Amino acid sequence: MIAEEIELPSTAFAAAWNSIKVEAALKDRLVAGALLSLQLRQTFSFEDMPVHGMVVLSGPPGTGKTTLARGLANQVAQSLKGSRPRFVQIDPHALASASLGRSQKEVTRLFHEVIPERAAQGPCIVLLDEVETIAADRQKLSLDSNPVDVHRATDAALAGIDVLSRKHRNVLLIATTNFPEALDKAFLSRADAIEDIGLPSDSARLEIIEDALKQLASRWPALDALRKRSKEFVAASAGLDGRRLRKTVTFAAAGTVETAKDPGRMTAHQLLQAIETAVDTQSRVGVL
Ligand SMILES: Nc1ncnc2c1ncn2[C@@H]1O[C@H](COP(=O)(O)OP(=O)(O)O)[C@@H](O)[C@H]1O
Ligand SMILES: [Mg+2]
Repeated sequence: MIAEEIELPSTAFAAAWNSIKVEAALKDRLVAGALLSLQLRQTFSFEDMPVHGMVVLSGPPGTGKTTLARGLANQVAQSLKGSRPRFVQIDPHALASASLGRSQKEVTRLFHEVIPERAAQGPCIVLLDEVETIAADRQKLSLDSNPVDVHRATDAALAGIDVLSRKHRNVLLIATTNFPEALDKAFLSRADAIEDIGLPSDSARLEIIEDALKQLASRWPALDALRKRSKEFVAASAGLDGRRLRKTVTFAAAGTVETAKDPGRMTAHQLLQAIETAVDTQSRVGVL
């Protein structure tokens, strides 16, 4: 169930934090909230200060939530001087896909064994990625698939979070979700903060486009000139998520075999067309 486990800080995680373009105030809020939550929980008992130590990042797929969560873990780790916090990324799909009756057991094991074992050694930051898979809204479960098991898994997750909140005051949970409406309300209510990471704004898209072009230009310097047209690319790309936008700029040279062979020959017109096609496709597939 553990997708990754490392000690922080790490330079790769620091790069992740910088790579995601969102308003600076959002990043500040995330770091400040996480640090305050850890500090309050070290100082007070849960009874005195019912802080759960959990932040939820919610938003459409491809908006940078997972990357931002990993970067946040690193920012927190950098501020916790004198300790090397452990970072653990959980793959809830691995828990949820366990066979009948197993997912409840696995979720219980996660919160009662796996995380506490690590927390016993020092501060621990846990990323529950796409958490709706283990904390599905019990009210919305229908009788198909495996509702009883899913129901129990959600119960186990809630109970597990409560145990962590009370007994393991040096654990920070960062949860992400693409489908907040599918998340159990009792889960959401335990979050100290819920941040909505929306589609990238004009200024965020400008940064993403310039970042991608800069990278390409480091190999094909002629592409640097395309940045003069960035405003047009920004205007054309409204509605694209950050992942799609980055990919579109990066792969625009695939528009013709000629530019695929020599990306340095890509024109602004070609890039604009690639962006328009991406927006058009996205709206037709129903993502927008
Ligand atoms: N706001 C953004 N700024 C820069 N890059 C972004 C942004 N949103 C997404 N990306 C790009 O998309 C990639 C995937 O993001 P990811 O964290 O997996 O999104 P999510 O978890 O929301 O689906 C990132 O590594 C990054 O390259
Ligand atoms: Mg993700």
